[in-house]
Amino acid sequence: MKLIFATNNAHKAEEIRSVLKGDIQVITLKEAGIDLEIPEPYDSLEENARSKSTTIFAMTGINCFSEDTGLEVAALGGEPGVKSARYAGEGRSFDANIDKLLARLEGVTDRKARFRTVISLFIDGRETQFEGICEGRITEKRKGENGFGYDPVFVPDGAALSFAEMDMAGKNKFSHRKKATEKLVAFLNSLS
Ligand code: IMP
Repeated sequence: MKLIFATNNAHKAEEIRSVLKGDIQVITLKEAGIDLEIPEPYDSLEENARSKSTTIFAMTGINCFSEDTGLEVAALGGEPGVKSARYAGEGRSFDANIDKLLARLEGVTDRKARFRTVISLFIDGRETQFEGICEGRITEKRKGENGFGYDPVFVPDGAALSFAEMDMAGKNKFSHRKKATEKLVAFLNSLS
């Protein structure tokens, strides 16, 4: 089965491909020849994910999926949440977003946070969603160079290392995206 993954984020595509095996072929927007930054205008991960996959399915007629992920910090009432990519402004800078997060949490002892991923899958025009959650905490300082986004300041529960100190296999033991992708794979396998 061929599926378009409606993303321009190469890291996400690599992570999802590391979980998908067998006869599920995933192509990114770039590989499908689509040069489009799909807006994420809604107040929930669910609506943004649906909007991205609806847009691509309407454009191509090819089965597709998209995902939206947010970092939800307990002491900040769930922020940055759906605004994770643009937390420090429209520049979508990973560095500026982390600086803002660490500044907001300065002196705060409750560092509890979680990543939540919602995948929206469109098969023959019908949508199904899958969720994956990874609980953890925000560090005081950046640690590690791998990954992307908030990885340098997020340590999952049960680990001593930040996501950015782990390789892909290490992150996949805990990852929100992996959990949601596994549900997607189980669903796709149940169709055949
Ligand atoms: P998006 O809107 O789903 O692309 O993601 C929102 C933002 O959340 C991204 O720009 C990243 O900063 C962050 N993010 C999403 N997934 C991860 C992850 O696995 N690790 C670290 N940050 C992430």
